[in-house]
Amino acid sequence: MRDVFKAQKVTDRVWWVGAIDWSVRDFHGYLTSRGTTYNAYLVMADRITLLDTVKAGYFDEMMARIASVVDPAKIEVIVSNHSEPDHSGELTRTIETIRPKEVWASKNGAQALDDYFRLDGRVKALEDGQSMNLGSAKLTFAETRMAHWPDSMVTYLHEDRLLFSQDAFGMHLASYERFADEIPRAVLDCEAAKYYANILLPLSNFVAKAIEKVSALNVPLDIIAPDHGPIWRKDPMQIVKAYTAWGEQKRTNKAIVVFDTMWKSTELMARAVGEGLAAGGARVRLMPMTGNHRSDVATEILDAGALVLGSPTINNEIFPTLADVLTYIRGLKPKGLIGAAFGSYGWSGESTKDLNAVLEEMKVQVVAEPVRAKYSPTNDVLKQCYDLGLKVAEKLPK
Ligand code: FEO
Repeated sequence: MRDVFKAQKVTDRVWWVGAIDWSVRDFHGYLTSRGTTYNAYLVMADRITLLDTVKAGYFDEMMARIASVVDPAKIEVIVSNHSEPDHSGELTRTIETIRPKEVWASKNGAQALDDYFRLDGRVKALEDGQSMNLGSAKLTFAETRMAHWPDSMVTYLHEDRLLFSQDAFGMHLASYERFADEIPRAVLDCEAAKYYANILLPLSNFVAKAIEKVSALNVPLDIIAPDHGPIWRKDPMQIVKAYTAWGEQKRTNKAIVVFDTMWKSTELMARAVGEGLAAGGARVRLMPMTGNHRSDVATEILDAGALVLGSPTINNEIFPTLADVLTYIRGLKPKGLIGAAFGSYGWSGESTKDLNAVLEEMKVQVVAEPVRAKYSPTNDVLKQCYDLGLKVAEKLPK
């Protein structure tokens, strides 16, 4: 593998030595349509240091990339910025192979790595804000708890004005291009937003604290090197600004209609709702859950203003695909949405009541009475759906 997998240069002293996963499509429920990377970085200081490792199964690729720069046995320090297994799955094997003098993590990280891998106290816990001298380079560590896990921290390399930001400011995007400025803007915008919506949205307050924490270091920032996707070297603050905006969850005039259908009745109702929303001036996305993934719904919600739900009743319940997406979205805790519900039924017809209950549980403001159709919608019911759309549109920001 050594002749094939090479490190990629980030600066004169930092090399990317991670792995590219072109195959992964499921990241704990998130559809990673473009794969991902597990970024690890080598700092070629007097004390050679490896920051983060890779997911289980990518050890040989990482080691080959390291060996293209330096004999891995010369690595003195391994830093674990984040204990989640996509970054630590090969940590134990890496420690056993390289035998570094020290392994560093945050206090929570040292505990988490022990809990995961039974490292028997081999990880040294760093203090929040602590600096460590690597001889020809200096690292400063800042805890960024809950961005993404309780153990998370970021590491700043003073000499290169470079922040190793672990999950923060990343995206799931497999590519041979290592830098964001080498990737089409539309792809960056799409994947960065999808990553924020599906991973960080419920942790927005913690992400904001992490950004404050990094600002408080009061250091210049030329490069942000996350643990997934490309490195930000041109205007790195662009992704910080995007995170700040997404965290504010400012609502727009976009409405998404999330629905599924058994015999096309609820689908016809959804189309009538969509017509009413559009006539009322909303930007509308109809998302049938046969053909859309829950993580795409989450991404659309990031800048939506309204969430309208439609489901038939099946065996006294909402449709299973609606239950799936709503369980997922509820966990992401979007704020400030308005919504409404509709659905068809044949026998008992609980779906709209259940959908409204979920909206209320999610603290979505329900702004219209639900509309129901028995078996198939009459013209009158379709008009009610249209009017529901109009009513929701009226309440959206203009
Ligand atoms: Fe990329 Fe929270 O792990």
